[in-house]
Amino acid sequence: MPNVSRVQSYEHLREEDLVPPASPRVFFEPADTEIGVWVAHDLITEGCSVLDLGSGSGAAAAAMARAGAARVHGVDAGEETVAWAREHYASRDGGHRVTIAHGDFARLTSEQLLATAPAPLPRPLVVTSNPPYVPLTPRADAERRSISGGTDGLKWAPAIIGHGRALGADLGLTIGSYSTPRHAVRLLEAAGYRVRAVTLCPLPLGAFTLANQAQVRALEEVGEAVLWQGPGNVPAYFIVGLACHWTDPAHADEADGTPRLTGDGLLELLRTAARSRTTALESLDVPRPNGWPGPLRVLDLPPAAVRHHW
Ligand SMILES: C[S@@+](CC[C@H](N)C(=O)[O-])C[C@H]1O[C@@H](n2cnc3c(N)ncnc32)[C@H](O)[C@@H]1O
Repeated sequence: MPNVSRVQSYEHLREEDLVPPASPRVFFEPADTEIGVWVAHDLITEGCSVLDLGSGSGAAAAAMARAGAARVHGVDAGEETVAWAREHYASRDGGHRVTIAHGDFARLTSEQLLATAPAPLPRPLVVTSNPPYVPLTPRADAERRSISGGTDGLKWAPAIIGHGRALGADLGLTIGSYSTPRHAVRLLEAAGYRVRAVTLCPLPLGAFTLANQAQVRALEEVGEAVLWQGPGNVPAYFIVGLACHWTDPAHADEADGTPRLTGDGLLELLRTAARSRTTALESLDVPRPNGWPGPLRVLDLPPAAVRHHW
């Protein structure tokens, strides 16, 4: 049987993290944030540091520290966002376990990003990112910077993957099942990454995406996006968390015996999930003779009543 585990409550975000920030310009989508923490959890090892690119409210960074990272440093381009994260989540005890800096990860070099931390980050290093990933037309892109991933949903992926590779770090990346997932895995593989664990969470499309579905539907039509009819036929997608190990290219061809999740494999997995009738994604339990065996985690969480996207 495939190795599927299910989680039905928030295990990383605390009650206070589930309250929307006062400013609507601080991203709030708890299921998205929780999945990013699970992905980090899959990669965190004792004494490691996490560099969280596009760290948002800082709730994820703080939860990653609770999940075992010795240090977590977040970088975000939003001034209000950084102010909120520093106020609510940066360590104030002088220990600097959680720190937040203002910066644009697409413009800074990897060394410049590291230099935004107040003290050197201990190794090993894990890079995580839950970037904007909704595929939108160029016109809609300009209206919703906090969620737009450009026309393929992967506008930010090359920069994020590039930083991970440059730093020789394992990488946790969150995308949507409509963010050209096959292409995402191909980008990761080309950089020396292998997907080791996947976390999925079904989520209804947000109001802006619903009103601007042209690009998502165009990708769906050509088989590069997977959508789902959720309970009550509500249009939904899956948040996809990819925990990836980096392999030095010099050893990349050496088989390590671990089954590899390819881009086609991920697409097939998402199509299988989309055959489910319930938010537990029960179709994934059916044996998949040629499919990737896991580990696969399904987050079956109640959607938040409020979302902050801008
Ligand atoms: C989808 S939100 C996720 C926030 C947080 N990671 C979480 O999971 O709650 C994406 C965040 O990335 C930030 N962002 C987008 N592009 C960025 C860039 N080029 N450099 C730094 N931050 C960026 C946005 O300001 C926003 O806070």
